[in-house]
Amino acid sequence: MNKLNMANPIVIRSLDEIQFWSRIMKEHALFLSLGFTHDQKQLIAEAHYFINLFEQIEEKLTRFNANTDIHHIQAFNNEVYQAAVAIWGYKRKVLGLILRCEIQTQNNYPLLVDHVSREAAYFAKRLKDLNKGKLAPEPDTIIKENLFFLKIMADHAKFIGHLLDPSERKLVEQAREFSHDFDQLVFQAIDLDSMRPQSETVPILDQFLDQNRVSVASLRDFKKTARELIEACRIKSNIHPLLADHTFREAERFLEIIDLFDSHLSKTAKKK
Ligand SMILES: [Fe+2]
Ligand SMILES: [Fe+2]
Repeated sequence: MNKLNMANPIVIRSLDEIQFWSRIMKEHALFLSLGFTHDQKQLIAEAHYFINLFEQIEEKLTRFNANTDIHHIQAFNNEVYQAAVAIWGYKRKVLGLILRCEIQTQNNYPLLVDHVSREAAYFAKRLKDLNKGKLAPEPDTIIKENLFFLKIMADHAKFIGHLLDPSERKLVEQAREFSHDFDQLVFQAIDLDSMRPQSETVPILDQFLDQNRVSVASLRDFKKTARELIEACRIKSNIHPLLADHTFREAERFLEIIDLFDSHLSKTAKKK
C-alpha cells in the first residue's frame, strides 16, 4: 500500500476543495474589480484585498499534502472558511448597493453578483462540513447538490448569452437554448426535492444524474468552444477569456460530482 492510500480522506478532499475554490474566489474578485467604474475606488480596493487573500491561501496550500496531520488541515480549513465568509459578505454588500441603485456598474449584473455569492456560500459550507467529518457531498444530498449546480449552469448560459455581442446571433441563440434546457432541469430538481425522501430511490436518482450529465457535458463543450473562439479573437463579445475558462472549470467540477454520486449509487445498488 502506498502512502496516499493511508492518507485521511478528509485531508485529501479538503486540499482538493481549497485548491479548486480558492482560485475561483480569486477570479470572482478580479471579475468584480473589472466590472466597477473607475471612481468606485473603495470597492475596487476591497476586491484587490480578496485577490491577495486567496493568493496567499493558494500559496499556503502548497505547503500541505495528503500526509499532513489532520489537525493542521482543520485549522487551515477554518482559516479558509473565514475568508470564504468574508468574500461572501463583500459580494452581498455589492449586491445590496446595486439593487438599491446606490452604485451603477459596468458588467456586474445583480444575478452575476448573487451567483458568485452563492458559490462562496457553497465553498464555506463544504469547509464547515469537512471539519465536521463529512466527506465530499454526502449521498443524501444528491438532489440538493444537483439543484445548486444546475442553477449555476443555468446562470452561466444566461451570462454568456448577455455578454456575447448581439451580432453573434447563432451563439446567442445557442446560449439561450442552454439557458432554457437548464431552467427545465432546475424545475425537475425542485420537483424531486419536494418529493423527498420518497423520491430518493436508486433508479430515480440514477436517471436524474444521467439526464443532468448529458446536459452538463454538452454545456461544458459549448463553453470550451467559446473559450477557444474568444482566445483566438474569432468572436465578438464582452467575455473575459478567463471568465470563459472559469465557467468551463465549474462545469467540469459538476461532472466530477455527478460521477462521485453515481459511483456511490452503484455501490448501494450492489449491496441490495
Ligand atoms: Fe464562479
Ligand atoms: Fe459560476
